Amino acid sequence: MNIIITGGAGFIGNHVVRLFVNKYPQDTIINVDLLTYAGNLANLSDIEDLPNYKFIKADITDYEAMRRVMRDNAVDGIINLAAESHVDRSIKDPFVFAKTNMLGTLTLLQAAKEYWESCPEKYTGKLFYQISTDEVYGALQLSNPEGIKGLGANHCAYGPDFFLETTKYNPHSPYSASKASADHFVRSYHDTYGMPIVISNCSNNYGPYQFPEKLIPLFINNIRNRRPLPVYGKGENVRDWLFVEDHARAIDLIFHNGKVAETYNIGGFNEWKNIDLIKVLIRTVDRLLGNPEGYSDELITFVSDRPGHDVRYAIDSRKISRELGWMPSLQFEEGIEKTVRWYLDNPQWLDNVTSGEYMRYYESMYGNRDVR
Ligand code: NAD
Ligand code: TYD
Repeated sequence: MNIIITGGAGFIGNHVVRLFVNKYPQDTIINVDLLTYAGNLANLSDIEDLPNYKFIKADITDYEAMRRVMRDNAVDGIINLAAESHVDRSIKDPFVFAKTNMLGTLTLLQAAKEYWESCPEKYTGKLFYQISTDEVYGALQLSNPEGIKGLGANHCAYGPDFFLETTKYNPHSPYSASKASADHFVRSYHDTYGMPIVISNCSNNYGPYQFPEKLIPLFINNIRNRRPLPVYGKGENVRDWLFVEDHARAIDLIFHNGKVAETYNIGGFNEWKNIDLIKVLIRTVDRLLGNPEGYSDELITFVSDRPGHDVRYAIDSRKISRELGWMPSLQFEEGIEKTVRWYLDNPQWLDNVTSGEYMRYYESMYGNRDVR
């Protein structure tokens, strides 16, 4: 197969590209990425010379470019990860989110429709796979503020309910609204034109190569640089965390074995209150840096809350476990240890991606929050 993976130079994308390139040497993997601030080809330096890997710098909102890429590469499958992905940025500048996430997805759908309808076998053997987020479902109640033991060995549930594949979309941020809108277009191309599509909605990912504007890499980088750790509100919001390579394995399973027109939720049954997660993170970084226990606690700085901050996300991932046999492979403690080690072992990567433009962005985000 010839498979386009869009956004392959980003955080999740590079793990998906690496998995596919190594696992399927008979397939050609075409990474289509615009290389925005979040895309970094250095993330893929270990596989860039492999014969079944190809990189094309292009914008998914550019219809002619997408048509050309699909035709020139006789594309059979598309996995769409390209997106603007940071909620805080979407609050500052919603337009680029609508453009990339909504119009970009629509552009890809239309280019794929046109190309596949021109093929003799039409849609047979083709698939458009949209990578979505649990944030489209909105926010769950935080009705067990202390958490009660839930489904897994270490699982604490902070409320009685979970996002199911049937949960109605109810996005609150410009980011989640743009992703929800994209998902609706994807379904409409199945229902209207019969295009084979599949969608998955995953919870918060963490792991190597995540841009340090998201909670976990930002805080690791700040602890290592003795900078304040900006905790929004009281740090009581809950997220469900999954190691990024487990997400990549789920994407592989869904792409190859998922049912057309289905939705699959992906999550770790691993809910954490932000402040508890931050404490684990501080303990781990301090230990690995050889600092005394509690050394970096003083960096915790409570700042004004994110507007419209969703209180709790929690995914019910039993469908993908039941139907496709997927399970997260790592316990959270293991995943965090692996992640912190990776960032501390790769200070050059952190320094490179946080130079220049990023620092100006950081100042503009936190300059008025007494954080720097
Ligand atoms: P990211 O921001 O790290 O990477 C996005 C990539 O898309 C970058 O390489 C960027 O250069 C590229 N890109 C942006 N605009 C583009 C355009 N117009 N044309 C081509 N390429 C463009 O994002 P991520 O965290 O890796 O997320 C990937 C996907 O997974 C997104 O669709 C996101 O909504 C979804 N998702 C992310 C998470 C998470 O926790 N990070 C969880 C669930 C779902
Ligand atoms: P983030 O990594 O931005 O992911 P998302 O908003 O998509 O869930 O944030 C994770 C949680 O951490 C979220 O509840 C917001 C909170 N947060 C902070 O408290 N401080 C920060 O500096 C950041 C980036 C996030």
